[in-house]
Amino acid sequence: MVAGAGTTASSASASSSASVKDAAVAAPTPLDRVVPAPASVRPAAGSYAIRPDTPIRVSGSTGSEGSDGSDRSARAAHRVGDYLARALRPATGYSLPVTTRSGDDGIRLRLTPKAAGARTLGEEGYRLQVTGRAITLTARGSAGLFHGVQTLRQLLPASIERATRQSGPWRVSGGTITDVPRYAWRSAMLDVSRHFFGVDQVKRYIDQLALYKINTLHLHLSDDQGWRIAVDSWPKLAEFGGSTQVGGGPGGYYTKDDYREIVRYAASRELTVVPEIDMPGHTNAALASYAELNCDGVAPPLYTGTEVGFSSLCVPKEVTYDFVDDVIRELAALTPGPYLHIGGDEAHSTSHEDYVAFMDRVQPVVAKYGKTVVGWHQLTGAHPVEGAIAQYWGTDGNEKEVADAAKAGTRLILSPANRAYLDMKYDANTPLGQSWAGYVEAKQSYDWDPATYIKGVPESSVLGVEAPLWSETLETSAHIEYMAFPRLPGIAELGWAPASAHNWDEYKVRVAAQGPRWDAMGIAYYRSPQIPWPNG
Ligand code: ACM
Repeated sequence: MVAGAGTTASSASASSSASVKDAAVAAPTPLDRVVPAPASVRPAAGSYAIRPDTPIRVSGSTGSEGSDGSDRSARAAHRVGDYLARALRPATGYSLPVTTRSGDDGIRLRLTPKAAGARTLGEEGYRLQVTGRAITLTARGSAGLFHGVQTLRQLLPASIERATRQSGPWRVSGGTITDVPRYAWRSAMLDVSRHFFGVDQVKRYIDQLALYKINTLHLHLSDDQGWRIAVDSWPKLAEFGGSTQVGGGPGGYYTKDDYREIVRYAASRELTVVPEIDMPGHTNAALASYAELNCDGVAPPLYTGTEVGFSSLCVPKEVTYDFVDDVIRELAALTPGPYLHIGGDEAHSTSHEDYVAFMDRVQPVVAKYGKTVVGWHQLTGAHPVEGAIAQYWGTDGNEKEVADAAKAGTRLILSPANRAYLDMKYDANTPLGQSWAGYVEAKQSYDWDPATYIKGVPESSVLGVEAPLWSETLETSAHIEYMAFPRLPGIAELGWAPASAHNWDEYKVRVAAQGPRWDAMGIAYYRSPQIPWPNG
């Protein structure tokens, strides 16, 4: 990391001179004061100020792919331009017209594989160049352009995130950021089963994830306490199995149109949805909905507690596989992304022999409907199919089974519970969450390396990271935000920033600068005492 240009607000605020303080307040954010840390930062003299007449100039070309490809990339650049304009208009009060007219001034969003060096940016990388005349954002893919826009937002004053007109000025430091992700898989999971969260609540979380370049939303759609996705061929799953939640509230479920809307909205923020149906354990809601799924033919009552490990699909019964086939077929048809998560954790009421037999039959069903299997890492104790992805949620990084599977080709997503689980309490006083994996303060959550966390795993097996949020104790968006912030940005940084940028003492200053942004956005974050928040 190159040190940022200009005087920082925190160093200047130690001064008693009002004029120095004022100058510091007006100084634009240093280019490296960004979460996740960019791969490369080169500050330069000067700055760009967004003004009332600043245009957002969008252009797209795909070089050799012909006019259709160019149109597509022009449309994609326009969409990102519209998103940026919507983000900046309320606080600036400027019109910020999005235009395809070219020019060497304004905010320029260029989607092109032909620009010098663009090839090394991949689909998600971007280059942000700031001079006194223009801000130029260049990317190969719409995801790269979108991630660059998130960086640009963080370089503007925090008040840019307010919903009403603010005074500015809206200056961005001069220089160049060239940025690419460390890992392709940067995910967050939301448990919508223990407590149900509606479409608008999921969209709100998606918007928050996008701020930190998270590109995957894993939805935990079924568990003992609730089945949350409509399945036409088994309608009682949602209608009955989704009718309650932890604590006995009314629960809920997504209609197919609801789910499509979540997928569409996630895609508009460059996130892929990975749906999870947890099997063969964590299935009480399904077992309560259809008596024939139970080995004894008797449906248990709905469950609103928080125990785990007491339910299992009936592995020897053929109807189990009719059920699995129908559910996976319908869910795969709704899901444009390539992955389908089949759970597989905490199957304590399934014998090992049954567990292996179940996974042997179910994994090919996922492939039959065109999807790649993702499972919790207990899948490595069965026979993961070729191409399967295992999600590690252990706490000591010492699981031989997982390392052996990785050596044999199973790819890994890392979400160690004592680091990445956003539902763990920060400390003994945290009013929400659980503590079975210990307390997880901000530093504990950030300070580990996905590449070396599990002993004996080749670095090339690690696809990336995920921050799961289980909702036994969480009922509202404010609850989600209190647990996710400030830890989520730390996990996002582990997924994005180069390993060489990993440094808690530097990170804590960068994440501290996010606090005023969260205040401006109405995000109810936890004010960790480990982080030097600028406003006390
Ligand atoms: C899990 O936390 N049971 C995956």
